[in-house]
Amino acid sequence: MKSLKIGVCGVGNVGGAVLENLTNTPDIVVSNGGVQIEITQVGARKGKSAVPYDLDVVTDLMEVAKNPTIDVFVELIGGCDLAKDLIEHAIGNGKNIVTANKALIATHGDELFKLAKEHKVQIGFEASVAGGTPVIKALREGLVANEVKWFAGILNGTTNFILSKMSEDKSSFDDALKEAQELGLAETDPTMDIDGTDAAQKASILSALAFNTPFDFSFVSYGGIDQVSPEDIAYAYQLGYSIKHIAYGSLDNGQVNVSAFPTFVPKDQLLSQVGQQMNALEIFCESIGSTVYYGPGAGPKPTASAVIADLVDLSNGGWPESENKKNQNTLIKECKQQFSRYFKLDVKNEAGAIAKVSSLFADENVSIEALIQNEIKDNSPNENFVPVVIISGVLTDTEAGRLQENLEAMTEIAGPVKQFRIHNAL
Ligand code: HSE
Repeated sequence: MKSLKIGVCGVGNVGGAVLENLTNTPDIVVSNGGVQIEITQVGARKGKSAVPYDLDVVTDLMEVAKNPTIDVFVELIGGCDLAKDLIEHAIGNGKNIVTANKALIATHGDELFKLAKEHKVQIGFEASVAGGTPVIKALREGLVANEVKWFAGILNGTTNFILSKMSEDKSSFDDALKEAQELGLAETDPTMDIDGTDAAQKASILSALAFNTPFDFSFVSYGGIDQVSPEDIAYAYQLGYSIKHIAYGSLDNGQVNVSAFPTFVPKDQLLSQVGQQMNALEIFCESIGSTVYYGPGAGPKPTASAVIADLVDLSNGGWPESENKKNQNTLIKECKQQFSRYFKLDVKNEAGAIAKVSSLFADENVSIEALIQNEIKDNSPNENFVPVVIISGVLTDTEAGRLQENLEAMTEIAGPVKQFRIHNAL
């Protein structure tokens, strides 16, 4: 039986679940991975009161990173500054690393992997993307023989949970968010979930593995579900769609684009059926077609499952060095992919207004595939303006942005114009 001595820093939702799993049911790990994992030390800033187990707990996290008896430093504190400092010290002290920290990997991955290589140690980061669903293992091991052309995925459990609750149970945004927080799905600051940052960081990590690009989160364009209203969800339902937060990555002639936005998904597509806090990722390779990965993407237990899988892998020699491959492809900001779109605008209720709207679509050479405008009733909130929803033909993000600006400049349109992509297989 192999043995692994670990130091765990961070005892929040995920850290707590890792300690619980390894303390209460070490046999699972032993029988599945043939390794005895011993928690040698725990770093908890709140001290022993935060750790309900008989373990060596220290409040100075650096003590764990420097502890000479530890083989693996498990970083579960999140954030970038302290986590990076701790990991760098742990690597410098010859320790392998396991982390769930997507912000850190998406921002400083290249630097950390270089340092790890110099010190002949490895970094496991399965828990950083899609929680308990092993998508990183799929990319760096299972699909290694193929060139990935694109991926499309639901990568944030909290926002998928909120969108599902709003559309299926008619919950309010606030109630759904509160429930997600109670389930331990959301980040400490849920802004990162809601504004799309969390999913964008995960997409950036997937891109580095799928397309051999640098770990550079600054190239990802993204938006969040804070743009989605109950009204949009109702229109989506009426038109045969659900709204999901979808991250895309695609490779075209050596250029890679990564983005993540709320997206209309036709009801008959697989991603449309992904409810609750589940994540799903479709990865397309020219040679084999699509493979799809589905499972719990957030929450203490699924994330702890990925952390423990990394520990078992480390005890078995770690991973192929795909993240250290020479960068082969270039990240670009501009998404050249065309999408059909949902547009929502408030149009003045007067003769010729819709004709002007449709002429702006014609100027972009894009068709109007569907249009909803209901008659204004006496009790409507605003008798002068009527909500209009348009499903358009395909446009790039640049073309759609230009059309949106031109619509907003019309005196017959009140307030901002909203537009979302409509998912299609790339
Ligand atoms: N807050 C994240 C989510 C947790 O909801 O997906 C996993 O990264």
